[in-house]
Amino acid sequence: MLKDPEVLISEQDIAARVDELAAQISSDYADEGELVLVGVLKGAFIFLADLSRRLTIPRHIEFIAVSSYEHGSVPSGAVRLVMDVRASIEGRHVLIVEDIVDTGHTLHYLINMLESRGPASVRTCALLHKEHKTEVDVEVDYLGFTIGDEWVVGYGLDLAEQDRTLPYIGVVHPDD
Ligand code: PRP
Repeated sequence: MLKDPEVLISEQDIAARVDELAAQISSDYADEGELVLVGVLKGAFIFLADLSRRLTIPRHIEFIAVSSYEHGSVPSGAVRLVMDVRASIEGRHVLIVEDIVDTGHTLHYLINMLESRGPASVRTCALLHKEHKTEVDVEVDYLGFTIGDEWVVGYGLDLAEQDRTLPYIGVVHPDD
């Protein structure tokens, strides 16, 4: 039987941090009308669900899908749009919601692409940031946790589609 991944960030700590992020975002956008949340599939689906339900401002949910990893755990650096948002974002405030920023290529691509559509603003929110893996500098305006160079699963993140629905962020060792 497979053993459970070691806990890196507990369910309680995630919930507390998501509360803080939602409060900060709600305060920052309090006078800005509706905020368009763009969740990046698949990894952000749980974070977006929890974050969006804790906001106290008007919000509109969109999803976008990109592919950034060509084979398993080996990042290619190239980002490809797999599914676009449905709504026009012209003149609207946009918040990209990511589960994790690793090399930064995905977020960099998305910021540029969405900014080219004439939104009122584009900001970013990520639950996790692997800061020592950065290849492209991107601004994360709302960040949950900084982590080291470890493979993490749970709360939307997977290893070959396993462990996405773990309630906590766990560490796995793919080569073991
Ligand atoms: C992960 C994560 C980010 C991206 C970050 O997605 O959800 O979108 O990688 O990596 P980067 O900073 O190096 O670009 P993944 O490609 O694993 O797809 P998934 O979310 O569908 O699991």
